[in-house]
Amino acid sequence: MSTIESAQSEKRLFPPSGAFVQQAHLDSEGLRVLHDEASADPGAFWLGQAEQLVWRTRPTQGLDDSQHPFVRWFADGRLNLTESCLDRHLHTARRNKAALIWEGEPGDHRVLTYFELHREVCRTAAALLRLGIKTGDRVIVYMPMVPELVIAVLACARIGATHSVIFGGFSAEAIRDRINDAGAIAVITADGGYRRGKVVPLKHNVDEALQHCPGIRHVIVVSRTGQDITMHPGRDHFYSDLVKAESGHCEPAIVPAEHPLFILYTSGTTGKPKGVVHSTGGYGTQVAFTAKHVFDLRDEDTYFCTADVGWVTGHSYIVYGPLIHGATVVIYEGAPDTPHKGRFWEIIDKWGVTIFYTAPTAIRAFMRWGDQFPRGYRMDTLRLLGTVGEPINPAAWMWYHEHIGRGRCPIVDTWWQTETGGIMVSPLPGATVTKPGSCTRPLPGIAVEVIHKDGTRCGPNEGGYLVITRSWPGQLRTVWGDPERYRKTYFGDLTVDGRSVYFTGDGARFDEDGYLWVMGRVDDVLNVAGHRIGTAEVESALVGHPHVAEAAVVGRPDELKGQAIVAFVTLRSSHAKTPDTADILKAHVVHEIGAIARPDEIRFTDALPKTRSGKIMRRLLREIATTGHAVGDVTTLEDLAVLTRLSATDSDEE
Ligand code: WTA
Repeated sequence: MSTIESAQSEKRLFPPSGAFVQQAHLDSEGLRVLHDEASADPGAFWLGQAEQLVWRTRPTQGLDDSQHPFVRWFADGRLNLTESCLDRHLHTARRNKAALIWEGEPGDHRVLTYFELHREVCRTAAALLRLGIKTGDRVIVYMPMVPELVIAVLACARIGATHSVIFGGFSAEAIRDRINDAGAIAVITADGGYRRGKVVPLKHNVDEALQHCPGIRHVIVVSRTGQDITMHPGRDHFYSDLVKAESGHCEPAIVPAEHPLFILYTSGTTGKPKGVVHSTGGYGTQVAFTAKHVFDLRDEDTYFCTADVGWVTGHSYIVYGPLIHGATVVIYEGAPDTPHKGRFWEIIDKWGVTIFYTAPTAIRAFMRWGDQFPRGYRMDTLRLLGTVGEPINPAAWMWYHEHIGRGRCPIVDTWWQTETGGIMVSPLPGATVTKPGSCTRPLPGIAVEVIHKDGTRCGPNEGGYLVITRSWPGQLRTVWGDPERYRKTYFGDLTVDGRSVYFTGDGARFDEDGYLWVMGRVDDVLNVAGHRIGTAEVESALVGHPHVAEAAVVGRPDELKGQAIVAFVTLRSSHAKTPDTADILKAHVVHEIGAIARPDEIRFTDALPKTRSGKIMRRLLREIATTGHAVGDVTTLEDLAVLTRLSATDSDEE
């Protein structure tokens, strides 16, 4: 693929230490055996892994791909995933073990044992049932990172209601669109949450959204900040009032393996967010398998994942995966630099964290803040580090290895997506020799290839499209309410051996040792600070402003965030640009989508470069945003003069 060229040639190798290998669930020999098993009979392999869950009816079928690309896994099995996360531990020594250790941003904390977490989930589930919420209903969860967020998610799963968590940073408009798309009937939220010492007005945002959501019957409000909020009689209930009356017993709803456990909205290449639908049994199996082996989870571990439950990483590796294995999970409500830049390291020392999972963008921020922050902490309990969300540059990998892992901890660079449900490509910490910047090899049972557009396989170090050629249990099942969009988005043009394959949207290469190097997105999706943002969503927010005639959004490489958002904007002729136009438009995007989508730079132009058929040539805009001028092929450009004018566009960023 000519558009993706790799300049990386990383040669350093990091084998796992003898001490780590000795205690690990899997060493290189164990991994080889698993790979052999999985390639000999993938269906049987995954059926074996499904045994990690508690089933009421054990499945006898593995993959059913007869309706390709619509798949089913373990279709004759029945279960409730909360029994795997909670009930099963109550008859073991884990009953009184900490399930959640929660740190609030202001410095408060709470510990819930498995017994307590089970009780709170059951009380909440019973309260949902009492409100008339039932199996198959959709419930929105829009909360700060407090224990009740985990409780709410599991309570939905307990009664078979499909949860859809919306990240607490999203705006009222984004909430409204997701609620209506999901056809949700209830929202679980909080009065507010703490972020960088400020209070985020969550309930207020929900109220604004609900002016346009006729389907919502109930709003349940957790008190976190105690700020003033408006309660609508009949519709709004305080969480504490609802659960007060409940006993702590709630029979789980037993559902078929294919029952939709959750919908999680993610950015696509159109302005409309996509509701990625995940199953119960297949998803549960994928996260159980990967949490155990990638994080080498053991009963003695204290595991800290810095993601928010509003993203898939939080679903899979804060809630379901670790709890299935009875792990102790640390969650933190706030920002890493509040009240000081050593906050994560302080939490690691305070609770004796052994496994730490974060994102490259966070690591680059730590590097920039300086080595003195981690240096002030012992962090001698850590034994394993992980990263997710975007390619990690070798310099950040080395910094993480030296300053956080103190040269002692293996790093698992885990490649996966909202759509894959769980980790797909990653080192196994006791088995894989790592190379900084590579997520190494596909896990057993996972068939990943890098291909050319025509379906032929790329050779070593040849960049191409990253595809998955065989279904895996955690595969998304559809796009909520739009199966055709599912088929088109993920099983569009690319085929291998005549069969349509799942396209990840990423470009990648395998090196001469069969190690995978992900080079980032090839579609119109940005990856800003580890979060996927569709350029079309930002554009549609911009053109929704009365002053804007046209907008095109591209990413430019950014040392800290991976990509920064640059918007090219043409104003309506009726509106002249004023000194604060850029700020007004940025604020407008924040209002429409949320602060994560705020453009870093707005460039005003009188025209956008277009092909003769009227398509905006983003490649040229990307070049201009990055280098200041366009260098590539311009033969299909309609109006060459636009380019010269664009190079000299008026930017708000000096
Ligand atoms: C990128 C997050 C390189 C990739 C779990 C993918 C990565 C997108 C890695 C999914 C990694 C995630 N190395 N790139 N280890 N992990 N990505 O849906 O572009 O928020 O397609 O899921 O993030 O982002 P999503």
